[in-house]
Amino acid sequence: MKSIKLSNGSEMPLVGLGTWRAQPKEIENAVQIALENGYRHIETQINRNSENVVGMMKISIFTKYKIIFVCLFFQLPNFGNRPNDVEKFIKLSLSKLNLSYLDLYLIHMPFSFHCDKSVYAPLTNEDGTFSLDVDNDIIKTWKEMEKQVKSGLTKAIGLSNFNAEQVQRIYDSAEIKPAVLQIELHAYLQQKEMRETCKKLNIAVTAYSPLGSPGANTHFSNKYNYSLNDFPDILGHPTVKRLAEKYNKSPGQILLKHLVQQNIIVIPKSGNPERIKANIDLFTFDLSQEDLETLNSLDKNEEGRIFDFLFFKGVEKHPEYPFKRSKA
Ligand SMILES: NC(=O)c1ccc[n+]([C@@H]2O[C@H](COP(=O)([O-])OP(=O)(O)OC[C@H]3O[C@@H](n4cnc5c(N)ncnc54)[C@H](OP(=O)(O)O)[C@@H]3O)[C@@H](O)[C@H]2O)c1
Repeated sequence: MKSIKLSNGSEMPLVGLGTWRAQPKEIENAVQIALENGYRHIETQINRNSENVVGMMKISIFTKYKIIFVCLFFQLPNFGNRPNDVEKFIKLSLSKLNLSYLDLYLIHMPFSFHCDKSVYAPLTNEDGTFSLDVDNDIIKTWKEMEKQVKSGLTKAIGLSNFNAEQVQRIYDSAEIKPAVLQIELHAYLQQKEMRETCKKLNIAVTAYSPLGSPGANTHFSNKYNYSLNDFPDILGHPTVKRLAEKYNKSPGQILLKHLVQQNIIVIPKSGNPERIKANIDLFTFDLSQEDLETLNSLDKNEEGRIFDFLFFKGVEKHPEYPFKRSKA
């Protein structure tokens, strides 16, 4: 498995298994199949829906398969994105995983909500809007993240869903620089400027929703009563399908290879055994320069963004809301 050397010296595998929206049993099976097929980077999240799942990923599995990298989201955005919550949440994550340290810990989002302590979830107002915590200071939160590296609870720290100005702000104030930025990145949202910023700052980029997150619209609708107009079908784009035929690969493999060939880490989610195997089977072929450029030309910039987080009603009013230029 090819990997990227992070600024802290760790090697981060270029392909990881995403687990978002999967049910507990599905995740357990998916992790097992993934490990048997060469995955060494499992990306997990702790929230009230997946706590049990994370608990299933026992130390015995990691030991058996000599796992070298566990990327775990830092669940601050919804209800705990405050400096004095950092240590509490990383320790909670470690206890769920039965691990003594993580390889990478991310601040999930730059904005935050008040916590509804009765259900450990974001507090919502009577009109359905989310209760914004506008007092969080991302620089102070970062300082607490640095302390977790110093105390050995995580080897590297990073960011997710921060925009270029926010990344630069953290970087400029940081004693320990962000090692990774995890952002939405796929053929329709190629994030070229952000990638340039990260390259300059020696921050590795992880692409989330690298296949365009098929099925996310149903989730938005069921969970938040929110839906995106014209939800994209990137896997079904004629160019992607044509290249799949040309290389005798699946459309998913073409989309993932487009990113991996540019040294972008990908974390496709799948619970399907055949797709789990296919999504890591990316290193026996290369796309030609011409075909890379053809895929580059599918970029829709901000128009291609799926995760603008407007399903958190009212979030765009948070001072750290990162996507000012989005379709909002
Ligand atoms: N930082 C953030 O805010 C954030 C936001 C969103 C997502 N993420 C992370 O990124 C990971 C991946 O993103 P995502 O789940 O949104 O989208 P994705 O990986 O682009 O797409 C996952 C969907 O594609 C299907 N699929 C997987 N491999 C396929 C293939 N080769 N061909 C066709 N369909 C395929 C999966 O269904 P099957 O399971 O049936 O295969 C699933 O429905 C998530 O697990 C999550 O952890 C992070």
